[in-house]
Amino acid sequence: MQTSDALALRRASEGDLEAIAAIYNQGIEDRVATLETEPKSRDEIEQWWQQHDDYYAVIVAVERGTVIGWASLNRFSGRCAHAEIADVSVYVERDFRGRGVGFALLSELEREARRNGLRKLVLHALDGNEQGRRLYGKARFREVGVFREHGRIDGRYVDVVAMERMLTGPEAGL
Ligand SMILES: CC(C)(COP(=O)(O)OP(=O)(O)OC[C@H]1O[C@@H](n2cnc3c(N)ncnc32)[C@H](O)[C@@H]1OP(=O)(O)O)[C@@H](O)C(=O)NCCC(=O)NCCS
Repeated sequence: MQTSDALALRRASEGDLEAIAAIYNQGIEDRVATLETEPKSRDEIEQWWQQHDDYYAVIVAVERGTVIGWASLNRFSGRCAHAEIADVSVYVERDFRGRGVGFALLSELEREARRNGLRKLVLHALDGNEQGRRLYGKARFREVGVFREHGRIDGRYVDVVAMERMLTGPEAGL
């Protein structure tokens, strides 16, 4: 899959929040990306934005002036011991999936994390999210294990796969 030449990646700004929320809500609606089921309101997205900064960065993919995807480094936990770990999110607008945008975003997010001195990226993918799992495999995330029946969506239990990508040590360059 090829990304278009017109694709640009940059740090997100507050002016991107509406587009970020719309793309996030498509992922929630599709029921493959997250255990969340309610669309994010403007207030919730603003709260989410407040939890990000230069270290826990948000980046956007822009094509011909339109935001078509975003990815973020999220605080993994409030504990000091976990300060060098970030949880990852990546969402691509429905009509632009399968064209390399997710991989471009994830690759740039990894570069950003390395620049910021993070040691490790982690994520939790729904077991049935085939596209997400392939994307993470391509980005060299390692499967840590599967949480069985780890969430309930629309009345059914789903398994959740824990994955990690080391940014330092022997696995970092792989
Ligand atoms: C998961 C998601 C971010 C992937 O982004 P994307 O731009 O569609 O992915 P890419 O085009 O960069 O593809 C990366 C890899 O994923 C796989 N993939 C992507 N689209 C695919 C499709 N339609 N069918 C099968 N595999 C696919 C391929 O292995 C691909 O690698 P390749 O280019 O070498 O073939 C996107 O589908 C999305 O936003 N989904 C909804 C939100 C979501 O699930 N987020 C992840 C939460 S854990």
